[in-house]
Amino acid sequence: MTDYDIDACVRAIRERHSGPFPKSALILGSGLGRFGETMQMDSVIPYGDIPGFPVSTVAGHSGKLLIGSINGAPLVCMQGRMHLYEGYPAHRLAIPIRTLKALGVEQIVITNAAGSTHLDMGPGSLMMIEDHINFSGQNPLIGPNDDRFGDRFFDMSDAWNADLRGQLQAAAKAEDVTLHSGVYLQVAGPNFETPAEVRMFAQWGADAIGMSTVPECLVAHHAGMKVAGISVVTNLAAGIAKHALSHDETITEANKAFENMQRLLARFFADGHKAA
Ligand code: HPA
Repeated sequence: MTDYDIDACVRAIRERHSGPFPKSALILGSGLGRFGETMQMDSVIPYGDIPGFPVSTVAGHSGKLLIGSINGAPLVCMQGRMHLYEGYPAHRLAIPIRTLKALGVEQIVITNAAGSTHLDMGPGSLMMIEDHINFSGQNPLIGPNDDRFGDRFFDMSDAWNADLRGQLQAAAKAEDVTLHSGVYLQVAGPNFETPAEVRMFAQWGADAIGMSTVPECLVAHHAGMKVAGISVVTNLAAGIAKHALSHDETITEANKAFENMQRLLARFFADGHKAA
């Protein structure tokens, strides 16, 4: 048995938003919360009003579910997310994703801030996630399997959906935004990596390193949702960067990349909606 009740989360959201529910979702990473200001909003629901929704404690993550549309495309946004380093048991990170699934969401785009292992993919760059390495030491799906959502064992070959990646590339081209593609590696945090860790991760094939995203991908993919992701590079990773890293830098650099990210995502959702 799980220690949370997805049906209760769904009811709480349905009390505040009874209209049709978007089939597309977006998780906003550090410094990207402003995306909400560019949406046409139908309902705004603080996480604290949804029973069992873990409330984020991090600066830059405000903790609201935004339901509305972007350029005419229905969209639900998680403005703020939970991280393993905040101390939430990993399995509780499944709550928001499973709630979205139960509300009818079919595809989800996950964004984050990350450090880059490449000098030529510096701060301000956008990297589409083509695959990931789970080095967090944790997994939200450990524990009894909830068969309503998916099977105990499941394939990860297409966890980062190839169709959505193609659509992201097309949207980037249409908006004239440079979109790199690479492997995201998740650490648990909260510390940034040591230079030795970064050298090892780079040898393993990690192009960007961050402290989120993999749990959400695992839960969403397990539940049969299509998953896509974009990292905003906020710094060169430790040892490649010649200065000490800080959360302030993460927020400042993510803010600078915001405009490109906003245009890319607005185009992606609008074109996807028109094609559906
Ligand atoms: N490492 C891990 N997480 C991060 C980084 C980093 O360099 N930058 C932003 N989030």
